[in-house]
Amino acid sequence: MKTILQKLLITLLAAGSFSLASADEMFIFQTAEVKIDNNKGTLYIGTPVNVIKNVDDKNVLVEFSGIAFDDKLYSNKDKSLLMASVEKSTLGAKGEAKKVQAVIEKGYLTKVPSEVWEEHEEFFYETCTQCHAAHQPTEHSMLEWDAILQTMSGFAQLYTDESEYLSRYLKANANNGFYPEKK
Ligand code: HEC
Repeated sequence: MKTILQKLLITLLAAGSFSLASADEMFIFQTAEVKIDNNKGTLYIGTPVNVIKNVDDKNVLVEFSGIAFDDKLYSNKDKSLLMASVEKSTLGAKGEAKKVQAVIEKGYLTKVPSEVWEEHEEFFYETCTQCHAAHQPTEHSMLEWDAILQTMSGFAQLYTDESEYLSRYLKANANNGFYPEKK
């Protein structure tokens, strides 16, 4: 039988590991339907979030910051990289810096950003190394990738959705994308 002291210790340990976990940065593994301030919203693939706490067995509360433009939140004022959007609501005035909280299923989160982009990366190497060696996503900024893809999507004969798929990967991993500190 457990003594009261043991029980107390277990509780303290659990609380300790919980507060550690709550400081964790995690990444959206797959674009997901979420609740943002009780509104229906979407959190897009690759977006970094901070996990605040468990809401229940399945869901956690996360927090993230960006630049609002009405119903959308971007990583910067160029609106290059979409982080979140809401239906029938607004996230802030045009160009306003905003901190937003959302409730999301745990299964949509991962600790490792490279895991998020495995399939994108494969498609990128298949499509973009036919004429030259791969140019790493980190070689360019998001705006540069926009310009480069205009030409290269034509060269690689990509459909619009394939080009958009690549664009999100390249911009998220660009030198001013979601993970600049890791380069
Ligand atoms: C049909 C051949 C071909 C394919 C396929 C191709 N490229 Fe290129 N790429 C070129 C050529 C030729 C150049 C150099 C001339 C130029 O910049 O237009 C180039 C240049 C580049 C550069 C350097 C541009 C700069 O300004 O420094 C980047 C980055 C690049 N390609 C990315 C890509 C990506 C991403 C893809 C896949 C969507 C791709 N390429 C597919 C032919 C290709």
